[in-house]
Amino acid sequence: MYNNFSYYYDLMMQDVCYDIFVDIVKENVSLDKTILDCGCGTGNVSIPLAKDGYNITGIDLSSDMLTICKSKQEKENVNFPLYENNLEEEIGFELYDCCISFLDVINYVDYKLAFKNIYDCLKCGGIFIFDVNDFNYQESMKNYVEEDTNDLFSYTWKILDNGVGKIKHDLTIKTKDDEFREIHYQETYPKEVYIKELESLGFKVEILIDDNIKVFFKCIK
Ligand SMILES: C[S@@+](CC[C@H](N)C(=O)[O-])C[C@H]1O[C@@H](n2cnc3c(N)ncnc32)[C@H](O)[C@@H]1O
Repeated sequence: MYNNFSYYYDLMMQDVCYDIFVDIVKENVSLDKTILDCGCGTGNVSIPLAKDGYNITGIDLSSDMLTICKSKQEKENVNFPLYENNLEEEIGFELYDCCISFLDVINYVDYKLAFKNIYDCLKCGGIFIFDVNDFNYQESMKNYVEEDTNDLFSYTWKILDNGVGKIKHDLTIKTKDDEFREIHYQETYPKEVYIKELESLGFKVEILIDDNIKVFFKCIK
C-alpha cells in the first residue's frame, strides 16, 4: 500500500481542497501548540501548517510517501521531523498538544488501535482532529470506475465492494515505460461507532463537519 502509487499521489489529488484541512487546524489550534500529523503522506497539510509557523511532526507507514514529503520540504524551505510509524502500534515519542489525521487515514487502519495510540500520545487537554468517509457515501462509491489520461500517465481506479462498510481500491497506472497496480483497503463505520469508541477512551467528542461525504471529529482528551 502506498508504494509506487506514492509518486502519482499528488498528481491524482490535485482537485482536493487541502485549504479546508489547514483552516480547520488554524481555527482549533493555536500556533504555540505542538502537532503530530498522523498519516502525513506527502505533507499536503503539514507543509502549509509548518510554513505558517506550526511546530509539526509527521508520521506515516509509507516510506515512499515520507520520501516525497521530505523532498517537498526542501523545495518549500521548511523542515520538520518525519518518522516511519504504524498508527496501529504504540507511537511512543513525546506527548503532543494536538494530533491530526486527514483525508481518511483512519479508514485505512484498525480504528480502535489507532485511537488508543493517539490518545496515549496526547497531553491532557490535547486535541485530536480527524475525518472519516461517511458510511453511506462510501457504500454508494462501490463499483465506481474512473479512468483518465494526462501527459505523464494514464490510470484506472476501481472502487470494489469488500463487505459491509469495506472497499478495495484497485489502481492501475501506466506510463510510457511502466505499468503497475496497487490495491488499497479501507473500511468505515457509522459515526456513532467512532463516537462510542472515542468516548470509551476518555475523549470528549464534537462533530465539526458532517456533509454526508466526510465526517470531521474534534476530540479533547
Ligand atoms: C489518503 S492518504 C492521506 C495523506 C495525507 N494525510 C493527506 O491528506 O494527503 C492516507 C495515508 O495514510 C497512510 N497510512 C495508511 N495506513 C497507515 C498506518 N497503519 N499507519 C500510518 N499511516 C498509514 C498512508 O501511507 C497514506 O500516506
